[in-house]
Amino acid sequence: MAPCVVTRGDSRLLSKPELVCRGLGFAFGANYVFQNCDLTTFKDEFVAVIGPTGSGKSTFLRALAYLITPTTGHVFLDGEEVKSPSSRISMVHQSIATFPWMTAQDNVKLALRCKKICNGEATETSRKMLDLVGLSGHVDDYPKEMSGGMRQRVSIARALAASPEVLLLDEPFVHLDELTANILRQEIHSLVFNPETSLKSAILVSHNLHEVVQLADRVYVMNGSPSTIVDEIGIDLPRPRTERNPHFLDYVDQLYHELSLKNCNGRLRHPQPEAKLIEQPSRTAHRAYR
Ligand SMILES: Nc1ncnc2c1ncn2[C@@H]1O[C@H](COP(=O)(O)OP(=O)(O)OP(=O)(O)O)[C@@H](O)[C@H]1O
Ligand SMILES: [Mg+2]
Repeated sequence: MAPCVVTRGDSRLLSKPELVCRGLGFAFGANYVFQNCDLTTFKDEFVAVIGPTGSGKSTFLRALAYLITPTTGHVFLDGEEVKSPSSRISMVHQSIATFPWMTAQDNVKLALRCKKICNGEATETSRKMLDLVGLSGHVDDYPKEMSGGMRQRVSIARALAASPEVLLLDEPFVHLDELTANILRQEIHSLVFNPETSLKSAILVSHNLHEVVQLADRVYVMNGSPSTIVDEIGIDLPRPRTERNPHFLDYVDQLYHELSLKNCNGRLRHPQPEAKLIEQPSRTAHRAYR
C-alpha cells in the first residue's frame, strides 16, 4: 500500500466539520508569515501540521485559537464563527507556559476560572488532570521545583482541564522522555476518540515525523515564503500504529520528502544539501531533520 493523498471520497471526510479556517493569514506589520490557509478538522479526527522551522506553524495555531487576531480570513467552530479566544479551543504552547508563583494545581485551576464551578469541583478536576499526566504526587509543587518535562505536563493538564472541543498542541512532547511522551500521546489520542469527553479533534504541530505518523489521520504541510498550506496527506494505517507496520516508514519518508522539496512560489525554504538526505533516509535523519 502506497502512502495516499486524501481525496474527496475518503470516508472520514464525510463526518461533520469541527474547526474550519478559510483564507487565514497573519502578518507582523507588513510581513505576512502565512497567508491563504484553509484547514478543516472533522469530529473524532487527529490532524497534524508540519513545516520547516520558521514557517509559521505556532503563529498559525495561535491565530486558529484567536489568541492573536488573524489579518485575513475566518475561523469557524462547529459552524459558528470564532471572533475571540474561547475555552472551547485550548492550546498547549511550544514554550512551556506555567506561572511560577502558582502550584501545579493552581496552574491547572486557572483554566477553570471561566467555568462557573465551585472551588471544590475545580480542585477535583485539576487533580484528575494532573493524575492523567502522571503528576499526582506533585500537585503542591511550584514550577521551579519541577523539571521542564513536568512543567510541560502541567501545561497539558491545564489545556485539558477546560474540557475543550479542539486541542491545539504545539510540539507538546519535546521536553519529555520517550516513555512519558508515548503514554501522553496515547492518552490524548484516546481522549479525542472517547465519546464521553468533550474533545472532538486535535491539531498537532510537530517536527517529529514518527510522532506525526503515529497520531495523525491527516497531515497539512506548510511551506513557502510567506507560508501557505502546500499539501494534505492522509495517513491510512490501522491503529494502534507502530513502526513494525511495514508501511509506517513509507509515510515518514513521504512526509520527509514533502518537507525537503515542497515549496510554493518556486522558492525552497530548505537548501539542497538537506534534500540529499532523502536518497538514504534513516530514522535518525528523520528525527533530526530540524
Ligand atoms: N513577535 C514577532 N514579531 C515579528 N516576527 C515574528 C514574531 N514572532 C514570530 N515572528 C516570525 O514569524 C515567523 C514564524 O514564526 P513561528 O514561531 O510561527 O514559526 P514556527 O513554524 O512555529 O517555527 P518553529 O518550527 O521553529 O517553532 C518567523 O519568521 C518568526 O521570526
Ligand atoms: Mg513553533
